[in-house]
Amino acid sequence: MTREIVIAPSILAADFARLGEEIAAIDAAGADWIHCDVMDGHFVPNISFGADVIKAIRPVTKKILDVHLMIAPVDPYLEAFAKAGADIITVHAEAGPHLDRSIQAIRALGKKAGVSLCPATAESAITYVLDRVDLVLVMTVNPGFGGQSFLESQLEKIERIKVMIGDRPIRLEVDGGVTPDNAAAVAAAGADTLVAGSAVFRGKSKAAYANSIAAIRTAAEAGRVPKLQTALIP
Ligand code: DX5
Ligand code: ZN
Repeated sequence: MTREIVIAPSILAADFARLGEEIAAIDAAGADWIHCDVMDGHFVPNISFGADVIKAIRPVTKKILDVHLMIAPVDPYLEAFAKAGADIITVHAEAGPHLDRSIQAIRALGKKAGVSLCPATAESAITYVLDRVDLVLVMTVNPGFGGQSFLESQLEKIERIKVMIGDRPIRLEVDGGVTPDNAAAVAAAGADTLVAGSAVFRGKSKAAYANSIAAIRTAAEAGRVPKLQTALIP
């Protein structure tokens, strides 16, 4: 199944002193979703922000708030993020022993559920939750920091997960080191949802944000073309 490409700028790379303005700017610049990276200094070696910040930004945009929880434990905080206004809540397969329970809890809160894999985790970790998730997020850096280099090793994993997903209505999201230069390869591997932090926010102006978002989208759409053309050749 081919889905529209979604570009989800990560606000981790925004100017936190002007967070509301930055979100309004990426919204106007063509962001499809707003990616929110929550870090706890325990599951990952960095602390970012929590549910109160999600609540504060909720009135600023009507776009989907795509909340990526890099926290452990995660279950005690799911309700707070749901109440704060998250639309999609993604948990890490590595964050605890009961991934299926976490996913069920997100769905019971009326939210879309995502599952994320760190670079060293095999795709088999999500085999038995695929019928319960709306999104799979493949980390293409080790989670914790923006501005790291894309790990090429993850392209094969993206391809394998694309096959595992098959016709299920699940988005395949890629997060970490995504730029206009590698977006084509990411989309060619099967991703339909691209997170980008530094590649979007490094421009520091609304016009630059729009250019970067458009460049990532154009590259991703172009990356899909060879496969579609190949499929049409008898
Ligand atoms: C990493 C985060 C990513 C990251 C993306 O732990 O989940 O969302 O901030 O930022 P860039 O695009 O700068 O790698
Ligand atoms: Zn993220």
